[in-house]
Amino acid sequence: MLVKNKNLRDWAEEVRALCKPDSVHWCDGSQQEYDRLIKVMVDAGLATPLNPEKKPGCYLFRSHPSDVARAEKRTFIACKNKEDAGPTNNWIDPDELKATMTALYDGCMKGRDMYIIPFSMGPIGSPIAKIGVEITDSPYVVVNMKIMTRIGTEVLDVLGEDGEYVKCLHSVGKPLGAGEADDGWPCVPNVDEKYISHFPDERMIWSFGSGYGGNALLGKKCFALRIACVQARDEGWLAEHMLILKLTNPKGETYYVCGAFPSACGKTNLAMLEPVFPDWKVETVGDDISWMKFGADGRLYAINPESGFFGVVPGTSMHSNPNAMRQIQSNTIFTNVALTDDGDVWWEGIGTPAPDHLIDWKGNDWTPASGTPAAHANARFTTPASQCPVIAPEWDDPAGVPISAILVGGRRKATIPLVNESLDWNHGVFLGSIMGSEITTADITDKVGQVRRDPFAMLPFTGYHMGDYLRHWLDIGKKANPDQLPKIYFVNWFRKNEEGKFIWPGYGDNSRVLKWVVERLSGTGQAVRTTIGNLPAAGAIDTSGLDVTEADMEELLHVDKEAWLAEIESIRENYVSYGDRLPQELADELAKLEEGLAKIQ
Ligand code: GTP
Ligand code: SPV
Ligand code: MN
Repeated sequence: MLVKNKNLRDWAEEVRALCKPDSVHWCDGSQQEYDRLIKVMVDAGLATPLNPEKKPGCYLFRSHPSDVARAEKRTFIACKNKEDAGPTNNWIDPDELKATMTALYDGCMKGRDMYIIPFSMGPIGSPIAKIGVEITDSPYVVVNMKIMTRIGTEVLDVLGEDGEYVKCLHSVGKPLGAGEADDGWPCVPNVDEKYISHFPDERMIWSFGSGYGGNALLGKKCFALRIACVQARDEGWLAEHMLILKLTNPKGETYYVCGAFPSACGKTNLAMLEPVFPDWKVETVGDDISWMKFGADGRLYAINPESGFFGVVPGTSMHSNPNAMRQIQSNTIFTNVALTDDGDVWWEGIGTPAPDHLIDWKGNDWTPASGTPAAHANARFTTPASQCPVIAPEWDDPAGVPISAILVGGRRKATIPLVNESLDWNHGVFLGSIMGSEITTADITDKVGQVRRDPFAMLPFTGYHMGDYLRHWLDIGKKANPDQLPKIYFVNWFRKNEEGKFIWPGYGDNSRVLKWVVERLSGTGQAVRTTIGNLPAAGAIDTSGLDVTEADMEELLHVDKEAWLAEIESIRENYVSYGDRLPQELADELAKLEEGLAKIQ
């Protein structure tokens, strides 16, 4: 392959000399290349083809039990000054980290092929898109990257002789001896020896020891969020952990909406929901990441930098997400779900009873009496965006789509109303800064029930100081005409009653909230101004045909003074951790809120 970019040729040679693979392969991104790599993995017993009558073109992979999710503890932001990483990131001095990892990389690809994957985040050649090159020793990464990003020769053409790219180096960290073959999923099994490292000053990523998800598909969280948000800060745009959807009302008017929800809090579900109103339409632009830049007209335009969805499988059903179910019937990679005896897949929450026998995600026999989950809770599908039955035709428009509203929200069983409209941009940024989720047993056990603040769902993905990140959001507001900025809405699908049941049905019924949002944007939606923001007036949320009582709606839409006062204490504690990098505007918003609450009888 002709590689015109000298910098890239030199870097590839440097990596080859260090990692010492048996061979080097430049990925052209073709279907033949994909099929060949799949075959190599099937032949090696690392992938299971699913029954072509049930799931044509689909494959099942099982990862190592130590390698099933992003490893936040082992994720590092290695900028020059520790203070610039801020209180929410793990920092290591870049020189020290490079020395440590160079020793790990030395000879780490022995016995393996090294793949060089040129990729574009965003439509190739789009003014909002950016190029990366991932060097990896994992064919699993190559086939996933082919679905998740645009890879191959065309990207090299855009890169040209001297184009810039983000260097992404990845190794599973398991060299093979002469004649040795993989015995299952290769990785470094000790979590404390994995590294997912970012060098934001150099726009560079080094990952070692994990082969799964955001640790290994380096275009996604590592580049499109942690590195890109630093580029965005420097260049005046936004790189965010947000879905992008298109909403069309009965008049045929269209609105594009972004939504920031933490991991496993409903982005993929909302991005492709089926509205409960037959005359409204939702179409998908993206399900996880949004890059937004100002257009010539002064509005913010978003692209989805990805070209596939890497979605949570458990809980996906014809009830919760029918469009995703349709999307993943073919040409999809499943990782860590259960295998049925007839070569299909099964998971908890699929909507059909568990069969009498399965092979579980660990590769063991499983029966309903086993008492363990058959699929891992973070099992994922990798599936092309183009297969989404409700993909918006403009999903890959290089110009992006103009954003009218941004939803933010996490899992909160109390206090936070179903929906709350910000009063202006700074207030919206304030709402984004205070969002968070209750910690579940899956996280840090001694803090269960406490709220983990997760500003704009970016806590694990902000590649610099969180206080500066929030400052950047405020600055974006200063650059624009206020009327042209998207309106920010704080939503919460996860309120619970005293029995611990969700009060709001969620999923497709969230279209009721989207409808109110659009009515607000067009000036017809009714709201009540409160001290926390504009709440829907009684009856303003269309609940026709919905089995939620008036009392429940009231519960979902009122200001609970005592709960908010407690909330303020916890927000303040979080704000203190930002030190003098906390923007004054946000401290002012908090003070205003406190004063407002004090006036409520
Ligand atoms: P990442 O891919 O990790 O970023 O997650 P995500 O934000 O895309 O979350 P996803 O849409 O995959 O949802 C994860 C889980 O949240 C689903 O399996 C559901 O169990 C739950 N969920 C999603 N939407 C709703 C909702 O409206 N109400 C309730 N109660 N649960 C929901
Ligand atoms: C998330 O955790 O928000 C994901 C999955 O989207 S991963 O790509 O593994 O980060
Ligand atoms: Mn995500």
